[in-house]
Amino acid sequence: MIKPIKSKKFTLRPFRISDVGSIRKHANDKTVSRNLSSLPHPYTEKDARFWIGKQIELQRQKNPENIVFAIEIGNQVAGTIGLHKIKCGHKAELGFWLGREFWGGGIMTDAVKDVVNFGFKNLKLRRIYAGVFLSNKGSARVLEKNGFKLEGISKKEVKKDNKFIDAYIFAKVR
Ligand SMILES: CC(C)(COP(=O)(O)OP(=O)(O)OC[C@H]1O[C@@H](n2cnc3c(N)ncnc32)[C@H](O)[C@@H]1OP(=O)(O)O)[C@@H](O)C(=O)NCCC(=O)NCCS
Repeated sequence: MIKPIKSKKFTLRPFRISDVGSIRKHANDKTVSRNLSSLPHPYTEKDARFWIGKQIELQRQKNPENIVFAIEIGNQVAGTIGLHKIKCGHKAELGFWLGREFWGGGIMTDAVKDVVNFGFKNLKLRRIYAGVFLSNKGSARVLEKNGFKLEGISKKEVKKDNKFIDAYIFAKVR
């Protein structure tokens, strides 16, 4: 089980089933889902329950493929950040989103810093990478501010709503 990471603005901690309401509320927003490859819209309580259930199952595994944190602010979960497709001692993919009402406060810049440190230190990763839709200026900036380098553009990387979308590939290595 991952330990919580506390900072001034938020706590990163494992998901609980009681987070269903917050996650459903913040994820059910087109301005959030349009930038993500796999968040359905509309996002129902059933979607939230299924997804959080999966995270709780992963928390029990010894070497999980994905480690996902809830971003807790005050008494609710404002979003999520995690490492996916983890190859311990080698690489993982970073993914994140934040509810619209929390945007612009430097939260994701700080959360990325904490999770990158966690990945490099605890999982001994050498490469953390992220795919960002070309239209997603905010995410590109969050990654650049954390020392990620643009490696290129992956054409038709994502198929979403029957459209093929190009994505920037950003990575940070050590
Ligand atoms: C992208 C997202 C994670 C940014 O989170 P945030 O906490 O608002 O970001 P921060 O406040 O840390 O901002 C970091 C930088 O990005 C810039 N930025 C944030 N949103 C921006 C936007 N929409 N357009 C341009 N710049 C933006 C900020 O100005 C800041 O740069 P600066 O310090 O040079 O001024 C958030 O908007 C979000 O969750 N969006 C929807 C889902 C998503 O895109 N997920 C990522 C998929 S790869």
